[in-house]
Amino acid sequence: MSPAPRLVVLLLAARIAASQTFTDAGKDFRVIFPENIAYYHPLDAQNKIWVTALYDDTSVTMSPASSEPKQLNAGRTISFDVTQELGKLAINEAKVSDLFTVFNISDKTVRITSTKDIVIQAVSSRGRSVQSALVIPTTKLSSKYFVPPVPETEGATSGGDPMVNVTERAPFRLIIVNPDEPKASVTIKGREEIPISIEPGKAAQIWVRNDSTTQYVEADKGVAVYFSHPCAVQRQCTCGLLHAVLPPAKNTTMRFPIPPFLGKPASIMQSDDSTRGWVNSSSPLVKSAGTAIVYWPRLLLTLVPVEEFASCFMVQFIEDKKNVLIIVVHKDHKQGIHVGNDPLEGAGWQELQGTDYVSTNHSISSTTVVWHTSANMTVYHMVQQNNTWFGNPAPVVSANPDFRGCVLTPEVTMILHEAGSWQESIRSCEDQNLSLISLPSEALQKQTCRNLRGNDAKQVWIGTRRSSLTGDWYWLNRNGFNDTNWARSEPGDVSEGQCAVMSLEGDCGWKDRNCCEDARPLCYADPQLLQII
Ligand SMILES: *[C@@H]1O[C@H](CO)[C@@H](O)[C@H](O)[C@H]1NC(C)=O
Ligand SMILES: *[C@@H]1O[C@H](CO)[C@@H](O)[C@H](O)[C@H]1NC(C)=O
Ligand SMILES: *[C@@H]1O[C@H](CO)[C@@H](O)[C@H](O)[C@H]1NC(C)=O
Ligand SMILES: *[C@@H]1O[C@H](CO)[C@@H](O)[C@H](O)[C@H]1NC(C)=O
Ligand SMILES: *[C@@H]1O[C@H](CO)[C@@H](O)[C@H](O)[C@H]1NC(C)=O
Ligand SMILES: *[C@@H]1O[C@H](CO)[C@@H](O)[C@H](O)[C@H]1NC(C)=O
Ligand SMILES: *[C@@H]1O[C@H](CO)[C@@H](O)[C@H](O)[C@H]1NC(C)=O
Ligand SMILES: *[C@@H]1O[C@H](CO)[C@@H](O)[C@H](O)[C@H]1NC(C)=O
Repeated sequence: MSPAPRLVVLLLAARIAASQTFTDAGKDFRVIFPENIAYYHPLDAQNKIWVTALYDDTSVTMSPASSEPKQLNAGRTISFDVTQELGKLAINEAKVSDLFTVFNISDKTVRITSTKDIVIQAVSSRGRSVQSALVIPTTKLSSKYFVPPVPETEGATSGGDPMVNVTERAPFRLIIVNPDEPKASVTIKGREEIPISIEPGKAAQIWVRNDSTTQYVEADKGVAVYFSHPCAVQRQCTCGLLHAVLPPAKNTTMRFPIPPFLGKPASIMQSDDSTRGWVNSSSPLVKSAGTAIVYWPRLLLTLVPVEEFASCFMVQFIEDKKNVLIIVVHKDHKQGIHVGNDPLEGAGWQELQGTDYVSTNHSISSTTVVWHTSANMTVYHMVQQNNTWFGNPAPVVSANPDFRGCVLTPEVTMILHEAGSWQESIRSCEDQNLSLISLPSEALQKQTCRNLRGNDAKQVWIGTRRSSLTGDWYWLNRNGFNDTNWARSEPGDVSEGQCAVMSLEGDCGWKDRNCCEDARPLCYADPQLLQII
């Protein structure tokens, strides 16, 4: 057989491995600290940005600059202290006579850039009031967000211009961030339209009207939207902040399993294209073509739908506080969860009644990676500050489950279209910078079989043959030939063939074959994994 023209092979090659999907990792972030409490508040804000690198030799810069760029290795976390008073309202002295216009509304942001992918968490604190937020990289922001219904807060007033009268007594507010050039044109749509223009790198704050008409935020470019209140929790003359990042609007109906946070029932604020309202969480699953946020008077937590479950998360430990993970997974996939290098053990699983999902919680004492060997799940990071809790979904590093760890670049499993002999197949894979697959472990055999399910090929060449001297089978990558997956009554004797194909049906058993026959090659490249420290 003549060698296949390389161009054809390239064009026809069908990549089977899951491609890299949505993650919260990136190289450019715009962070805002949401305090916006009146000038008379006795305490200063102490804000921090936690940064974790996914790769070695990552350089991270904060601007406006507070220090030299910081160098980080994979899995290492640092925090930047944001001394700049981003949120505290200044007094506009010219207008002290009008109590409601004396405030100067903050529009400042901080930018974090890095040379390689990082994940970020922002923690805002003022006295006993602490809140965290997941920060989405600027490249992954959206131009449409649904506005949730507004919880009632003590002493809230809603008079005046929603853009000007943004005091600590106003209802919940939207904080909209335009991460970069050019200027953003944003419209809040609902009963009435509010147009806003936001300069590059700046934020706008608008309080939200609570009418039954569906509201959403629409922009002419990607922006970030937060839902926030600087004084939602009032006790002993102090203010408690509530703050959550809104997820981008979606079109399809999604299912949000609700773990029993702290064993209490919660109200869910739901919003999509047609409805905006509250649902009762007596059912541990809500369906929405939009967003769902858990609300208790002291907690605001964005829920993650099953459709956006992922396989690896970075959890950035917040010092001097109790840090708890809440993990939600399908009941058939309780096995395989790891916290750092160790399997999750002794987890008391709780069924989410009437759903296929279960949840558990687990305390941690340092920054860690949470990953699943074979399935997707979700992880919430909850932190206790005295008697109150705050938290957010943990940032997603990957949605490609792998038995070896937390995947940065997924493995490649590719069946080439052009059939050839076993020897030719080795070359065809090499032409793609891949290798004819070696399958030395049971875990890899199972993962490969699962990834190839539904493929139209029936049998493919794999990278094993037997020695003509000893008759022993060996792998092309020289790994030990111990875990085998021969089909029933295989392999036969040497005369039946010295190479092997893998069936793509059933358990993907192997059969010996004459090396000169034609079959399509199964090519492979190893994944790149996050180094867990
Ligand atoms: C805030 O105060 C500064 C300095 O007084 C002023 O230049 C700026 O226009 C004010 N911004 C707003 C939104 O009032
Ligand atoms: C907003 O409206 C919902 C009903 O749509 C209601 O339950 C809630 O109390 C309202 N919030 C405020 C602050 O009035
Ligand atoms: C702000 O709200 C107060 C109280 O509702 C109102 O008296 C005042 O006129 C408003 N100011 C502006 C600039 O809208
Ligand atoms: C939602 O669906 C409509 C029509 O099906 C489509 O035009 C629109 O782009 C979709 N929006 C999003 C955010 O996917
Ligand atoms: C963790 O689980 C236990 C037992 O189900 C429960 O009592 C506790 O409140 C949970 N903690 C959190 C933070 O959800
Ligand atoms: C939520 O469910 C509980 C228990 O089923 C019920 O007592 C309560 O009235 C419900 N609340 C709403 C707003 O439907
Ligand atoms: C995990 O989620 C990703 C992204 O939604 C999906 O592509 C992948 O197939 C899922 N993996 C498993 C094993 O469910
Ligand atoms: C809150 O917790 C801190 C330690 O995290 C402690 O020093 C402080 O006394 C506590 N405050 C109250 C009011 O419980």
